[in-house]
Amino acid sequence: MSKPRYYFPGSSRKADLDFAHLGFDYRPCPYRFEAVYRDGFWRVRGLLESTDIQISEGSQCLHYGQQLFEGMKVHGGPDGRVYSFRPAENARRMNEGAHYLCGPEVPEELFIRGIEEVVAANHPYIPPYGSGAALYVRPLYLGIGDNIGVKPARSFVFRIFVSPVGPYFKGGFGPDQGKQFLVSRLDRAAPMGSGHVKAGGNYACSFSPGREAKDHGFAEALYLDPREHRYIEEIGAANFLGFTKSALVTPDSASVLRSITRISLLEIAKKSFGWATEERKIALEELDEMASAACCGTAAVICWINRIVDGDREWTFPFDDRWQKLHDTLVGIQNGSLDDPFGWRHEIPLE
Ligand code: PLP
Ligand code: COI
Repeated sequence: MSKPRYYFPGSSRKADLDFAHLGFDYRPCPYRFEAVYRDGFWRVRGLLESTDIQISEGSQCLHYGQQLFEGMKVHGGPDGRVYSFRPAENARRMNEGAHYLCGPEVPEELFIRGIEEVVAANHPYIPPYGSGAALYVRPLYLGIGDNIGVKPARSFVFRIFVSPVGPYFKGGFGPDQGKQFLVSRLDRAAPMGSGHVKAGGNYACSFSPGREAKDHGFAEALYLDPREHRYIEEIGAANFLGFTKSALVTPDSASVLRSITRISLLEIAKKSFGWATEERKIALEELDEMASAACCGTAAVICWINRIVDGDREWTFPFDDRWQKLHDTLVGIQNGSLDDPFGWRHEIPLE
């Protein structure tokens, strides 16, 4: 059976949205992709119209947090083409999480097929090049079934939905858009726990530290390592980066999510700009010596930091043009306006 066509060549029809002024909000698009795992096989349900997921009240994802998610962005290019960014890395990270949570892998082929189908089906919602917005892609992995015991599910839902989004931190990136962060006394993950896994439970644990930071006028919480509370861990849903006198540094920690944005920025720093990079423990006191700081992630892209507060101590940082260079190179590779010497862009076939 041939695939239904959701995209018509030559069609540049766009949804009636103010793409340049979107926030980071859920905006349901017409189609979502779904596959269900049962009896040892993934069965593709294809593109669905309902935003609802019907699952048993006994499902492990509801009781015991057997759940994973991913976050990716798709950009419209200057040539009208559409690109995702390193989707195989997201598939790999989801499957490392699936192992950790004792569930089946989602084959990379299925993961990427799902992204291609759901993006093509919702093409009028892909923000146009130059709008500053992107189509956010949210893969979900849910353990389901009729169950009450504390044990892994035997059936799973893999769903991908999309939503056009603007900047995660209000104002986006720019020399006047430095943000402030509050060092949290709470941990988002345990030393030998699930911090490196993109499981929903880690995010429920970040609500309270995040709320404390926001109630005090900060953009987010900055976490220290959960064992000694000495080293910088990460910031909300973003990894930490800083420029010392000699290198671009980022924390090396088993309880931090391996950010695909961060590993890409380190590659760009090394290979495109010839800057030294280091992945190592970074004590909070090292902020005394740091020239500038930032955090990064798919949603956050790069956000430079102008102030970090820890009780009665604080550090302030200026804008650094090197964040601009990293930002422009990353986004240029993602949206197709720059060459991609790394082979990171994955074009979404629309026809
Ligand atoms: N750290 C956490 C806890 C996150 O949720 C995210 C977002 O995915 C990141 C870091 C950034 O990771 P990535 O660059 O892969 O989006
Ligand atoms: C992302 O950066 O894609 C994330 O998943 C962060 C957040 C929206 C949870």
